[in-house]
Amino acid sequence: MSVELARRLLPADRAAMTAAARMLGAGGLVAFPTETVYGLGADATNGEAVARLYAAKGRPRFNPLIAHVADLNAARRLARLDADAELLAGVFWPGPLTLVLPKSPSCPISELATAGLDRIAVRVPDHPAALDILKALGKPVVAPSANRSGHLSPTTAQHVLADLDGHIDLIVDGGASSVGVESTIVSCLGAPMLLRPGGVPRDAIERVLEHALLDASSSSDEVPLAPGMLASHYAPRTPLRLNAMAVHAGEALLAFGADVPRGAMTTLNLSASSDLVEAAASLFSHLRALDACEARGIAVMPIPIDGLGEAINDRLARAAAPRS
Ligand code: TXA
Ligand code: MG
Repeated sequence: MSVELARRLLPADRAAMTAAARMLGAGGLVAFPTETVYGLGADATNGEAVARLYAAKGRPRFNPLIAHVADLNAARRLARLDADAELLAGVFWPGPLTLVLPKSPSCPISELATAGLDRIAVRVPDHPAALDILKALGKPVVAPSANRSGHLSPTTAQHVLADLDGHIDLIVDGGASSVGVESTIVSCLGAPMLLRPGGVPRDAIERVLEHALLDASSSSDEVPLAPGMLASHYAPRTPLRLNAMAVHAGEALLAFGADVPRGAMTTLNLSASSDLVEAAASLFSHLRALDACEARGIAVMPIPIDGLGEAINDRLARAAAPRS
């Protein structure tokens, strides 16, 4: 094994946990083992780190990400758990169950990590290396499966290396994942609903709840999503006008780049230096702020479609689509 490789792929010992937590704290991307599949982690409170994570995965869209925390108390700082959620967390955490919950008002997660939604997916992984890293960092870590978009989820450090080498800072090798499929996702926004089958079987959850789970497919589109598909997504109330080169009367402006037209009620720039990572990191918070300023509309300057620009444009197109 080359020295370069040895430094990037560390066996899951104490030194690796410290290195991983330090790397995450500095905004880096660290792949680490969980009991389901390997995750690609970023500090969930750092918008630019989260933006780099989407870029490393090559995701054409900003799907919301699962926040991983060390224990139930840490989860309670991010989200509101109702009685069903508390019950499921108490039985299945740590373990392969993700709960989608209303975000708490003081939730410190970057808007990009939840794709601007007011609900958040949370789980406590059942793997000593993952838990050690989370405790050492002391912050939530968002972690999609550590593969390039469209590829299979990795269950060994070698899979991660094969797929993501050169795109990430560190891989912690904790051996093969024991579960091998992703976590089961249940939304607890109202009556518990199965969003994605996974490591915890449906009947085990239903036995604990003492009633059946709703199915995402049988629900109206008011309610969350099918796995990986954002049926409902962040949408501002103020109409968006895309690819705007000039500002109309009464409009706010979501700018990009150095050459910004004048005349907007309020202007927020995604990135004056045309940096797409910076732009992604502030996309949802800027949209929210402009939506709140009572403008007639929000003019959005053109954004190139390379790199993260594809996902940014995808999100803007959805936000601009007429409401039903
Ligand atoms: O087992 C797992 O869950 C692995 C390991 C690494 O923890 N992670 C994983 O993440 O599978 P990912 O990003 O590949 O899948 C996350 C799923 C997506 O389908 C996403 O749409 C859904 O979780 N999700 C995340 N946040 C959500 C939210 N706020 N509301 C609804 N669904 C959400
Ligand atoms: Mg995945």
